[in-house]
Amino acid sequence: MSHIRIFDTTLRDGEQTPGVALNTEAKVAIAKQLARLGVDIIEAGFPIASTGDYEAVRRIATEVQGLVICGLARTAKPDIERAAQALEPAARRRIHIFTSGSKIHLEHMLRKTEEEVIATSVECVRLAGEFTDDIEFSAQDCTRSDPEFLYRLYGAAIEAGATTINIPDTVGYGMPEEYAALIREIRRNTQGVDHVAISTHCHDDLGLAVANSLAAVAAGATQVECTINGIGERAGNTSLEEVVMALDTRRDHWGHTHGIDTREIYRTSRMVSMYTGTMVPPNKAVVGDNAFAHESGIHQDGVIKAIETYEIMSAEMVGRDAGVLVMGKHSGRRAFRRTLEELGYSELEDDKVNALFRQFKNLCDRKQSVTTEDIRVLAEAEATRVPETYRLDAVQFQSGTRLTPVATVRLATDTGIYEEAATGDGPVDAAYRAIERIAQVPLRLESYEIRSVGSGKDALGEVSIRVTSDGQTAHGRGLSTDVVEASAQAYVDALNRLAVGVSRPTGESRAIGTP
Ligand code: KIV
Ligand code: ZN
Repeated sequence: MSHIRIFDTTLRDGEQTPGVALNTEAKVAIAKQLARLGVDIIEAGFPIASTGDYEAVRRIATEVQGLVICGLARTAKPDIERAAQALEPAARRRIHIFTSGSKIHLEHMLRKTEEEVIATSVECVRLAGEFTDDIEFSAQDCTRSDPEFLYRLYGAAIEAGATTINIPDTVGYGMPEEYAALIREIRRNTQGVDHVAISTHCHDDLGLAVANSLAAVAAGATQVECTINGIGERAGNTSLEEVVMALDTRRDHWGHTHGIDTREIYRTSRMVSMYTGTMVPPNKAVVGDNAFAHESGIHQDGVIKAIETYEIMSAEMVGRDAGVLVMGKHSGRRAFRRTLEELGYSELEDDKVNALFRQFKNLCDRKQSVTTEDIRVLAEAEATRVPETYRLDAVQFQSGTRLTPVATVRLATDTGIYEEAATGDGPVDAAYRAIERIAQVPLRLESYEIRSVGSGKDALGEVSIRVTSDGQTAHGRGLSTDVVEASAQAYVDALNRLAVGVSRPTGESRAIGTP
């Protein structure tokens, strides 16, 4: 039996998800939640990549305690020194140094021979040793590398001081048996490997990231690198919640332990989804809307008689208690605050609680029953709100089978209240055109998604959009029982994010040098 270390890279590899931009406040809030979740290591960023990355790693190193804070670095002196500087306030710090292992990378990216790669790696691991005794070393693209070279490279890194060796399947190419065999061969043939931890880092290009990570654990890996909701470059990374729940639900099979408080999983998933603007697909294992929904009559009948007929884990185990009626329009502020605390929002400032209480009362007027899930999404939206350059005061629309859709929007700003009307292809398009007329900021809508929070005709609709404007990309969220209003809110939220710089250059690859 081993303790499997969970290395979370949501804030580094996860932030490389196309269209995702997290500001420092958001990164610190997510890091604090990851600590509550119980991850062993947080990869907080790539300090040399930008001033923003550096500041976020430094803030996390200062404010998040009780676990290892890690910063990424290429095999270059300035990278390692910058990472060390950013991590300096952390009680337990790790520098994660990466190079490449495959011929394709050596020839086309690094333009170095194998011997040169080994020499630079050794030099950099030694340098990192001047700042910390916790050093992780990775060679990208291991699954397309010559294993003989990997044994020599990792052996040299271990001799120079690496304490964890990470075996990335950078392009999601490996098959589970193949990847497990690679881990076994590395364990058999690499000098000094018995004294270090072996880590797995998989990408999901063929939908095998979780399977590959578990195969690596079966072959002796004791660290799994993963992200919340599996977000990340291209098809994403290994999903933390899936790996953890596989280890947990099938402890009889694995016999391993982990430090995750599984009841914090759902909250962390929702938080990351809110801050990054990436919706979780409804059929996603563990955290998707449908993960615990039973649709067919036979299944429903089964779970009513005995829940284990069709459920291998309970919704409560991962912190989901959706659908519970908690409060009504006569509930008072004290009871509302207690519900927020039960949902984990005990640190909200009074003005946020007051704003939420007003929203809750409005919701009670519009919705027959208000559930914990409704309150949770309201609280998430409030917690992730950015300063409002524009505030949606009102939206009205007319639309129908034989009517040209028209919308009138009123926006409040510091300089007054502005109103415009516009026609469009539908009421949402008309509302977006009206907003554009007021703000005079041309936005291009790149994606639009809508999900229902709970069920019923009066359920809250949650709209998530991604827009681009003048070379910047930002996301926006809106929440209302009226989907046109939720759509208008999402557009205004995106405008506000662009206005305060919570955006990123369109098409920018955040982490220089990483695939
Ligand atoms: O996918 C990858 O190879 C990486 C490395 C930096 C570990 O993210
Ligand atoms: Zn990666």
